[in-house]
Amino acid sequence: MILNYKEKEKRERITMGSLTKMKGTRTKRASPPLVKEEEATYEVGNITDILSRGVKESVFPRHLELVPQLNELYELELAYYESKILTDEGIIRNGAYFARVGDTLTRHFLMCSGEPVRLPQHSSSRLRSFFHTNQFKTGYATHGLFPYRGKFHPQMIKGLINVMGLKPGDKVLDPMMGSGTVLIEAKLMGIKSVGVDASPFCRFMTQVKLDALTVPLIPVREALKNCRSVYDYFVKIAGQPNRGSKKRFEKESGDLFARDSADEYVARSASKKGFPWGSEIPEVYNFLLLAYLDAAGYSERSDRKSPYDQFHAILERYVFVAEKIQTVLVGAESELAESKALEGDARRLPIENSSIDGIIFSPPYSFAIDYLENDSFHLSFLGTDIEKLREEMIGLRGRTLRQKFDLYETDMEKVLSECARVLRPGRICAIVVGTNNNQLSKILGVPPGEVKGIDELFVQLGKPHGLHLIRKLSRQITGMANTMRTEFIVMLQRR
Ligand SMILES: C[S@@+](CC[C@H](N)C(=O)[O-])C[C@H]1O[C@@H](n2cnc3c(N)ncnc32)[C@H](O)[C@@H]1O
Repeated sequence: MILNYKEKEKRERITMGSLTKMKGTRTKRASPPLVKEEEATYEVGNITDILSRGVKESVFPRHLELVPQLNELYELELAYYESKILTDEGIIRNGAYFARVGDTLTRHFLMCSGEPVRLPQHSSSRLRSFFHTNQFKTGYATHGLFPYRGKFHPQMIKGLINVMGLKPGDKVLDPMMGSGTVLIEAKLMGIKSVGVDASPFCRFMTQVKLDALTVPLIPVREALKNCRSVYDYFVKIAGQPNRGSKKRFEKESGDLFARDSADEYVARSASKKGFPWGSEIPEVYNFLLLAYLDAAGYSERSDRKSPYDQFHAILERYVFVAEKIQTVLVGAESELAESKALEGDARRLPIENSSIDGIIFSPPYSFAIDYLENDSFHLSFLGTDIEKLREEMIGLRGRTLRQKFDLYETDMEKVLSECARVLRPGRICAIVVGTNNNQLSKILGVPPGEVKGIDELFVQLGKPHGLHLIRKLSRQITGMANTMRTEFIVMLQRR
């Protein structure tokens, strides 16, 4: 009888009951008991000693206090490595998982304390509770400025940067930077960074988030006070956002974006169109523009509020974010490292051989997120030829799922070979990647138990290029169970 793999799997499933009955299986009952049952179960006498110390006290020195809300095993592991790799001063300056070293509060704790973000009045209690529960993981610094899908947990990136042995003065690369999480964390930690993304919108968004760490506050506050005129200005040159529809702006696109030089663009646009607030400062202009695009995107997805009210609420939040992080950074501005956000292709990195001290990236989740579809609004607004860009986007090339997977594999091998080329020997390339073996099993026609996850694919693709696995951590993904269940941090070392 030929069984399909699902039936076969069901038949082969071993139950706890059957395990004790299986011949030759080593279970408690397989060998004769050496001690009485109750003695075998407990190490008598040690209970009080054992319970008097928690796991945290056993693992970390007493003077290190972990941040609140540390509740996952991978976080504990990263915290453990941080405690082994960083000095006390290093933990205070750059640690991701500690609130206090002795009597001194860490910078991470200070950055994340206080009201997490200013959410608009109408925000759901679910959203509010999300920001409170994730206060030390995400939403701090300028990470919350634009809700980019598939974004890293910033705290995890900070932890990884430490665990990979990167120090102030070193240089880290994210070849698929998305919204620039790695660059922002590195800048705050005094580590130089370079990021690349095929999407011009990602480059723009990343640049604004980096600049927001130091954007002059007086003109952005002034713009908030004059919110209506700022909004009218953008509407006049770009058209009114469409409410609750996936339709694009009706006006001609491409008028707002500064592809090569923000300065040049702002000078041109401001003098022509008479934009008043902070128009001579490119960082201010781009900050307001990102808020406008953010608001327009929201209006397109939901018509609960008028586009103007959306813009007002978002700009208020942006100003709050910039004020909050700049308050923490007072006196430390000179410690911020240089960062470069580039538009480009990760398969052909514009970077010299062996010039990078560490790489962190998260590849597109191949079949889960169509970034171009997601960002189509902003991209067409910025004058991008979306269909041309689609040809460059890894994970989107190909018609059938099978073709997409094959092209994904070919493309990712090129990315890994580029990573190996630019990374210094002995250094680490960390890939954060989710996998869904059920989905892969259907695409590849392989039983779920035999599927090689995307994490394993990366280990295999890295080897011929001298990238070898030294550690793999995993974390569970909540809220995306139907597409992605587990995310892995795959650390490959360049030999
Ligand atoms: C999972 S996202 C990265 C998110 C990022 N880690 C963050 O924190 O925002 C993957 C990114 O890969 C980019 N990408 C796709 N194909 C690319 C290519 N050929 N070269 C560079 N970037 C590419 C996408 O535009 C997307 O932003």
